[in-house]
Amino acid sequence: MIPATAAHAPALAAIHAAAYPPQEAWTGAAFATLLALPATSGLIDRRGGLILISTVAGEAEILTLAVYPAARRMGLGRHLLLAAIDHAAANGAVAMFLEVSDTNAPARHLYETSGFTPVGRRRFYYPDGSDALVMRRDITFAAAAEC
Ligand SMILES: CC(C)(COP(=O)(O)OP(=O)(O)OC[C@H]1O[C@@H](n2cnc3c(N)ncnc32)[C@H](O)[C@@H]1OP(=O)(O)O)[C@@H](O)C(=O)NCCC(=O)NCCS
Repeated sequence: MIPATAAHAPALAAIHAAAYPPQEAWTGAAFATLLALPATSGLIDRRGGLILISTVAGEAEILTLAVYPAARRMGLGRHLLLAAIDHAAANGAVAMFLEVSDTNAPARHLYETSGFTPVGRRRFYYPDGSDALVMRRDITFAAAAEC
């Protein structure tokens, strides 16, 4: 796993396209634009996974998390998540937030078993009409040690 830069934009877009439905996949240009922002950071894993977060004023937010279908259920998603928590904590964040569709059972399980709890609901948030759950956890450095 290494920090993602704009040079990784095509690889990030390829992972995202494999992990999400076509209408939700992010382009390489979108990744390059996001990674040029000072608040945004990312990790990419050559097994086929990525995570992007934004860290502002002590709060981090997961922008996206994706693992290749063939690489799932082997711990990569959790590894990326905990590494991102460590990164955010090292940059001064004390809490992390995310949004997840309430119909996305794999992602909800991952977050619930990684210390996130629901703090809100955004109705009909996603294009398929599903609600977004807003989830939060306190974060400290060395979350990756939980892995
Ligand atoms: C969500 C996602 C990132 C998980 O990646 P992963 O590498 O498979 O996750 P892990 O192997 O680290 O699994 C960690 C935990 O997540 C949960 N989980 C993962 N896949 C699951 C599934 N199909 N059903 C139920 N729980 C699942 C489990 O709690 C699992 O722990 P366990 O394997 O010990 O039971 C991956 O499924 C994905 O890319 N999905 C499409 C994109 C997406 O939904 N991103 C999140 C948007 S908020």
